[in-house]
Amino acid sequence: MANAIRHFLTLDDFTKQEILDLLEHAIELKTAHYKGESYRPLVGKTLSMIFAKSSTRTRVSFETAMNQMGGAAINLTADGSQIGRGEPVIDTARVLSGMVDAIMIRTDDHNDVVEMANAATIPVINGLTDNFHPCQLLADLQTFMELRGSIEGARVAWIGDGNNVCHSFINAARILGFSLTVATPKGYEPSNDVVAIDSSYCKVGNDPQAAVEHADLVVTDTWASMGQESEKQQRLDDFNGFCVDTTLMQLANNDALFMHCLPAYRGFEVSEEVFEGSHSVVFQEAENRLHAQKALLDKLLVNKN
Ligand code: CP
Ligand code: NVA
Repeated sequence: MANAIRHFLTLDDFTKQEILDLLEHAIELKTAHYKGESYRPLVGKTLSMIFAKSSTRTRVSFETAMNQMGGAAINLTADGSQIGRGEPVIDTARVLSGMVDAIMIRTDDHNDVVEMANAATIPVINGLTDNFHPCQLLADLQTFMELRGSIEGARVAWIGDGNNVCHSFINAARILGFSLTVATPKGYEPSNDVVAIDSSYCKVGNDPQAAVEHADLVVTDTWASMGQESEKQQRLDDFNGFCVDTTLMQLANNDALFMHCLPAYRGFEVSEEVFEGSHSVVFQEAENRLHAQKALLDKLLVNKN
C-alpha cells in the first residue's frame, strides 16, 4: 500500500519523536550547508507557494530551501492568481496536485488550509494562518536546542497577544513537554480550544512580571497581526505594560533567551535594548527558518514517513 500523504498544518501532524528527529536533521543540514556540502534530494521537485498575506522570511526561506536542495519553488499571490478571483481552494488543490510536488500556503482562515489538504494528493504545509504558525515553531525549537539543548522541562514565557504563534507555542509545550506561561492583556488570551487540549503544560494569565519569573525563554510577537490593522490603535492602548523591556527581562533567568518571529516593532512589544541586547537570538531564529524547513521538505517529499 502506498504511504499516506503527510501534511504539516499544525505541530500535531507530527509525533514528539518526529519533531525531535526533524530538528536534529535541521541542525545537521545547517552544519553541512556551512561546510559548503551540497545536498540535493529534491532535484526535479517543485513547491508551489501561495501567499494570501505578506511575507519576507517564509517566502525567502522556502524558496531558498527548494533551490539549495535542487528543486524549484513557484510563488503565487492571491491577487496574481485565480485564487483572488474566487477559484475554490479545493479546485486549486487538485490542479496543483497534478503539477507540483507540495504546496505551502499562507492565508487567513485555517479551515482553508485544512480544505486544501483534504483535496490535495500532495503534502500541504501551513505557512501561517490566523490560528497557527507551525513552521515558525520548528525554527524556534531548533534555535533553543542549538543554544541550550533539550527544551523538555524548560520554562517559557509568552508575553503579548494570544495569537497564531502563541497557539503554536502552546501546541509545542504539550507535545515536547515544556512549561509555557502566557501573559496577555484581558481579552487577548489564546483560544481556549487550543489551551484546553491539555492545560497542564500551559498557564494563561494577565501578569507579564509573574510570567517571566525564572523563564529560560521569553517570547513575544507584534500586538497587531496581519489582518488586524484596523484594531491597531485600540491594541496599542490595551497592550500598555506588555512591552518586553530590560526591567521585564531581568525577572527571567540570567541566561534567558529572547525570541520574536519577526517582523518586530521596537518600542511596542519589545524595547530596542532587549531586541538588540545579549538575550536576543532573533536573527539566528530567523535564519533557522531556512534550515528547519529544509528538514521539513526532506521529511514530506523524500522520507514520506
Ligand atoms: N516570521 C515570519 O513568518 O515572517 P514573515 O511574515 O516575513 O514570513
Ligand atoms: N502574528 C503575526 C506573525 C507574523 C509572522 C501575524 O500573523 O501577522
